[in-house]
Amino acid sequence: MKGVICAGGHGTRMMPCTKVTNKHLLPVYDKPMIYYPMQTLIDAGIKEILIISGPGHAGDFLNLLGSGKKFGVKLSYALQEEAGGIAQALAMAEDFADNGPVTVILGDNVFEDSFDISDFKFGARIYIKEVTDPERFGVAEIDETGKVKSIEEKPTQPKSNYAVTGLYVYDPRVFDIIKTLKPSGRGELEITDVNNAYLEGNQLEGKKVMGYWTDAGTFESCHKASCLVRDKELKESTPKESNK
Ligand code: G1P
Repeated sequence: MKGVICAGGHGTRMMPCTKVTNKHLLPVYDKPMIYYPMQTLIDAGIKEILIISGPGHAGDFLNLLGSGKKFGVKLSYALQEEAGGIAQALAMAEDFADNGPVTVILGDNVFEDSFDISDFKFGARIYIKEVTDPERFGVAEIDETGKVKSIEEKPTQPKSNYAVTGLYVYDPRVFDIIKTLKPSGRGELEITDVNNAYLEGNQLEGKKVMGYWTDAGTFESCHKASCLVRDKELKESTPKESNK
């Protein structure tokens, strides 16, 4: 399976830090933000990754990450000329996907878990996580059996506390679906509309995220991401007390 990192956008929620650089290059604790989603893909066993970024800073990603050799993967780069939404960015990965499935991750998403995607066959898979501020995200309504019933993008009255995280697995039909999308109220091709298309066809699977998850696209969430990563690293480097 190939992987795609969506790292475009203007980063308006993090001005002025994003005035001269891309949001995904800002630090989360001791690494540039994009290292985390890239590591999530690598841990899932992905060896070929396409990084889609916006104009202005595309060269910085190349300078930072290079060919991917030092991470044991092959990196390619694409440029999204206008910030037209995540689904529009993903459309640029059609040739790269080469009629195979793709795992897509947003460049500002930080996960604790490792994910097993080797069992993915067709349709779409999303990963959901209970949060206290669902109105900031795509929100999944879940039935008694845990099945996803509906998804709404940033609803003012969320139907649940389950945020749709920025990790998705799609079969190659995703590219045809994107071609049918119309821009949303905020003028973007929404990834939530892609997921709803699969949901209508009864081909969307929702899985729960067990470990921590946060986006890092606002000052608050970026700070939270740094704290989560730091706490985990400190815990792992502290020798455990022996029971003897
Ligand atoms: C995007 C998606 C949203 C998802 C979120 C996860 O929102 O549109 O559905 O819940 O990422 O980070 P954005 O951060 O681009 O506003």
